[in-house]
Amino acid sequence: MIDRHGRPLDDLRISVTDRCNFRCTYCMPLERYDWIERSEILSFEEIRRVAAVFAQLGVRKVRVTGGEPLLRVDLESLVRMLAEIEGIEDTCLTTNGSLLAPKAEVLKRAGLRRVTVSLDSLRPETFSRMAQRGSLENVLDGIDAALSASLLPLKLNVVVERGVNDTEILDLLEFGRQRGIVVRFIEYMDVGTVNQWSSSKLVSKAEILRRIRQAHPFEPDGHPRGSAPAQRFRLSDGSGVFGVIASVTEPFCGACTRARLTADGRLVTCLFSAQGHDLKRLLRSGGTDEQLRRRIAAIWRSRSDRYSEQRLEAISSGSGYSPLAVQKIEMISLGG
Ligand code: GTP
Ligand code: 5AD
Ligand code: SF4
Ligand code: SF4
Repeated sequence: MIDRHGRPLDDLRISVTDRCNFRCTYCMPLERYDWIERSEILSFEEIRRVAAVFAQLGVRKVRVTGGEPLLRVDLESLVRMLAEIEGIEDTCLTTNGSLLAPKAEVLKRAGLRRVTVSLDSLRPETFSRMAQRGSLENVLDGIDAALSASLLPLKLNVVVERGVNDTEILDLLEFGRQRGIVVRFIEYMDVGTVNQWSSSKLVSKAEILRRIRQAHPFEPDGHPRGSAPAQRFRLSDGSGVFGVIASVTEPFCGACTRARLTADGRLVTCLFSAQGHDLKRLLRSGGTDEQLRRRIAAIWRSRSDRYSEQRLEAISSGSGYSPLAVQKIEMISLGG
């Protein structure tokens, strides 16, 4: 099954809650927000059912995300249910790491393969400036626990923001190198509507690589990239690998095979979508799996999203790009 640009559906990202115990400035800086009503949030059984239909349609990889997914009580039960679905080969979690330490082992036993932790700084003051809540220490404990539980490969997501954490690129790289963690530096994106994105905050892939090259020679890691957002590089001395996610300066929409399910059961076909397609109504009104399968297939077949490519075209043409000109779902309800 392919969409209008010939892209298959390979990958499902499931947001299990839009709540978060952090308030990262680039994602959800607001104190108050219209959080999804509890009654609207899908139960684990509803999520399992939708994921199983996605697996029938060809999805092999499932990522659990949020908000902060570990705020959802008994998340390991959901992980077990997802890992047991026929066809699902890879079950992963994206988390801010703050609640991971006591859960890493149980998640592993439940069938979780690997974890990606968001961490933007190793300096307590900069960490607090970006995350606004939580403690660096808890996140570092979470990372240690995930390594001990062999939730591997462990990846670190670092959103690079000019004037805030861009002086830490080499320190974060070193942190990853010493622990066998794949650090991915992410270009600051204009996702959602509340993060006050401007191009002046963006540190491009070219600049990130220039800064790393001054200290360490590296080369492309040579593996085919497939549909992965990250371009990977290996340090020439063999001591580690790192990645760059250049969604702004080198968009990868052409290979985008990801579907997103929000915590309230909407199917979203692009990180920059204005809204999603409601699946919950069908789920809760006695719809069959076959009806669900047909609905999802129809949505995917009519998909034509390529927002990041269009943004680059607008920026390059000089016609002006205004990130708030269109409506967008907030990142906190998509989980990246
Ligand atoms: P694996 O390859 O399975 O490890 O996952 P991944 O590379 O997709 O990593 P992850 O889900 O952690 O994504 C990393 C970040 O890349 C996200 O948090 C987003 O910021 C960005 N990203 C991921 N998918 C997309 C996408 O489809 N479009 C855009 N523009 N950015 C994306
Ligand atoms: N730009 C780039 N990445 C972002 N993330 C959240 N907001 C942004 C943004 N504005 C990433 C975080 C987290 C993932 C879920 O999404 O790094 O790891
Ligand atoms: Fe930060 Fe992730 Fe929470 Fe957004 S969902 S505020 S990126 S920890
Ligand atoms: Fe996919 Fe949309 Fe990101 Fe392009 S901007 S890679 S279509 S999610």
